[in-house]
Amino acid sequence: MANSLYDFGMIGLGVMGRNLLLNMADHGFSVIGFDKDATKTGALESAATPGTTVKGVADLATMVQLLERPRKLMMLVPAGQPVDDVIASLLPLLEPGDVVIDGGNSHYTDTLRRVKYLREKNIHFMGIGVSGGEKGARTGPSIMPGGDQDAYAKVKPMLEAIAAKVNDTPCVAYLGKEGAGHYVKMVHNGIEYAIMQLISEAYTLLQKGAGLNNDQLHEVFDSWNKGSLQSFLVEITADIFNQKDDKTAGRLVDMISDKAGSKGTGKWTSQDAMELPVAVPTIDMAVAMRTISAYKDQRVAAEEIYGDPAAIHVTAEMWIKQVHDALYFATILSYAQGLAMLHEASRELQMDIPLPEVVKVWRGGCIIRSSLLEVFTQAYQQNTDLANILLDKGVAYLVKSVEANTRSVVAQAATAGFPVAGFMSALSYFDAFRTGRMATNLIQAQRDYFGAHTYQRIDMPGTFHTEWNQ
Ligand code: 6PG
Repeated sequence: MANSLYDFGMIGLGVMGRNLLLNMADHGFSVIGFDKDATKTGALESAATPGTTVKGVADLATMVQLLERPRKLMMLVPAGQPVDDVIASLLPLLEPGDVVIDGGNSHYTDTLRRVKYLREKNIHFMGIGVSGGEKGARTGPSIMPGGDQDAYAKVKPMLEAIAAKVNDTPCVAYLGKEGAGHYVKMVHNGIEYAIMQLISEAYTLLQKGAGLNNDQLHEVFDSWNKGSLQSFLVEITADIFNQKDDKTAGRLVDMISDKAGSKGTGKWTSQDAMELPVAVPTIDMAVAMRTISAYKDQRVAAEEIYGDPAAIHVTAEMWIKQVHDALYFATILSYAQGLAMLHEASRELQMDIPLPEVVKVWRGGCIIRSSLLEVFTQAYQQNTDLANILLDKGVAYLVKSVEANTRSVVAQAATAGFPVAGFMSALSYFDAFRTGRMATNLIQAQRDYFGAHTYQRIDMPGTFHTEWNQ
């Protein structure tokens, strides 16, 4: 290196931090990583591509000194207190104008607080969502930056270089003010929860409803991934059914406990949606189903009392087609809810989130990438301020084409007793959303009846109260 200073620094050399940094090095940037754990600094250097400039250090001050000014550095440490701890140890070492990025799954309110705190010290702080897991981090993640636009300009070339590409367009763009990057990532994860829940419902309907074995499930999901349901999550689902168990003669998926874990980002999406408020029932259901999955003993006891689901009375071939359509429908509805949430949050929290850019950034590299994102990209090209993608004519055409089969699946699953809360919530959201006059006038009447909460009339302006049943 000519001046022996490094272009970019990383704090935290876990799997994600290491792979992102190596990705930068692979794109010609000189990089330096810090971790207290010397085995991780060693692992960083030994995993570097020959010919790239990669250094690992176990002392934070050394790393900061070795960075080109203004410094550009990212931390990838667990969300919460560890991020504040890193900021506290960094502050005495930084100079005005330096750019500090939090690339983890931090809550956007923490990011907001940190942006303000560091702004007072003339340090640019950015919250950036990174999606794509371990492999994506090394070969091309989807990157969701938000915050200070001047700071973004300084790191843009690096982020564009390392991001996934779709038709040569990098899957990274400036996604709004203050905590917008982490907000968009949070909603991404909410949608991720919803789609994963829906796929698991399709699995139970095909496995227990139609008696498909793992080989057949692999075939079905593999063929779905070649059609309109093409997506990362459907693709890995097909792979999962093929995975042999190295401890028994069977398949690994059958040996995995049905208690689902979570780190909280799905729950944050639901919590914040309630706060706004905006309705995301399929995300809420996905969170609730992971919670119910933990009630193992109670579920086993309840199964003894209430029995198994009844049979599904259609041919396997027809059922597979109907479940395909229901999954397509409910997946669109999951995106619709998440994107509507971003639309509302952008306005309500003054984040100026550009939805046309969000769907473009999600087209590649991230966990919820799918061919549907191309459809949504076109929808936002027609109307950049679309409040809900269900109002787009192209999306409406797709939804209508699978509506009947979705109703059929939900009806049959309900009759037989299969747990399909995700599908049901998507259909319920849809049916409420397409209803010009809901029955909520009655709720308003009830509220006024017992609590004098007042109501509005449809034929004249003003606020009214009635002495009911006098
Ligand atoms: C991604 C993922 C990633 C991670 C989530 C999973 O976009 O790469 O969303 O952030 O896998 O933390 O969350 P749960 O552990 O809550 O399922």
